[in-house]
Amino acid sequence: MIFITGGAGFIGSNFVLDWLAQSDEPAINLDKLSYAGNLENLASLQGDARHVFVQGDLGDRALVDALLAQHRPRAVVNFAAESHVDRSIHGPEDFIQTNIVGTFRLLEAVRAYWSGLPEAEKAAFRFLHVSTDEVYGTLSKDDPPFAETKPYEPNSPYSASKAASDHLVRAWHHTYGLPVVTTNCSNNYGPYHFPEKLIPLMIVNALAGKPLPVYGDGMQIRDWLYVKDHCSAIRRVLEAGKLGETYNVGGWNEKPNIEIVHTVCQLLDELRPRADGQPYAQQITYVTDRPGHDRRYAIDARKIERELGWRPAETFETGIRKTVQWYLDNPEWVANVQSGAYREWVAKQYEGEAA
Ligand code: NAD
Ligand code: TYD
Repeated sequence: MIFITGGAGFIGSNFVLDWLAQSDEPAINLDKLSYAGNLENLASLQGDARHVFVQGDLGDRALVDALLAQHRPRAVVNFAAESHVDRSIHGPEDFIQTNIVGTFRLLEAVRAYWSGLPEAEKAAFRFLHVSTDEVYGTLSKDDPPFAETKPYEPNSPYSASKAASDHLVRAWHHTYGLPVVTTNCSNNYGPYHFPEKLIPLMIVNALAGKPLPVYGDGMQIRDWLYVKDHCSAIRRVLEAGKLGETYNVGGWNEKPNIEIVHTVCQLLDELRPRADGQPYAQQITYVTDRPGHDRRYAIDARKIERELGWRPAETFETGIRKTVQWYLDNPEWVANVQSGAYREWVAKQYEGEAA
């Protein structure tokens, strides 16, 4: 079985769903269920014995030790993190605790477990750390995209905490021989994305008739990847990645924020026109920029393609259409997330199941 942390969040839940759709290998899913963790994402797995959910903190050494000893996973995939840049600016403490201290404790628990495995299992074991391109810092317009060799220059509390966790993972490999691989991915979008991030926020605000807040001049560039493509990259790196290596994952889809917002508006104009017949773009509002806002991220994804044969399946056009359609088809999920009702839902639906 594999051991996943943060599997009730946006990317983690997509990964768990894809994993169990493609194989019968069970997954144990350790998630604290912070505001961003939502077991409703995994509702389709209710009663499926291949998914074992445990509510808990990745930094809880006694809990993680016990789970590793009991379930004896062949791999750990570490998604758990505080992930929102704006929250990290308002309150960095949780980011230090979960992303740095939590990763450290998890590494120590995994190292103890891995050290005691029989030789063959020890050799086959993998610790895959899921990270972000934001650790590399910001690019100007004409810089080449981030390659794996780019020095780390994190600028926000979030990216600094992720950079620190990447360094710990690297050191646990070099010092202790822990068999690690790391992925650094660009901005994801798709189903189950919490509506505090750009794309889902624009969709739900547009539908609610609210302003669409664009930071600064809206010309900041991100490199967008459909979440299922990120999941397939992680599976591929887990299967064939070289120990101690890092792999940048991206979709060759650099776009300024304002273009993303216009695309979302146009899709909504087509799929769910406003009652008054006016374009959703009328709701766009320029607001004060984020402090220290990174101007451009872009991923050079040639290494993962060359060495592991991975390429994204979706273009931005197909992925964003699916995403907008998913939000239109799942108003209850959106309403529950916005009202916080998903927490009650979880308490009711998973009573006794969540440890
Ligand atoms: P998310 O915020 O949606 O989910 C994070 C999950 O981790 C939640 O379910 C939360 O409950 C859980 N969690 C938080 N603190 C925890 C703790 N102390 N112990 C156990 N669980 C805890 O984030 P996401 O967007 O799904 O990101 C997942 C990972 O991918 C993160 O490590 C993030 O840095 C990385 N990443 C995200 C993106 C992106 O665009 N979202 C891009 C590249 C990399
Ligand atoms: P976000 O989804 O928070 O991801 P990240 O900051 O990790 O890249 O933001 C993506 C881009 O969109 C980023 O440049 C900030 C911008 N943005 C807005 O312009 N308005 C918003 O309301 C949000 C949430 C983000």
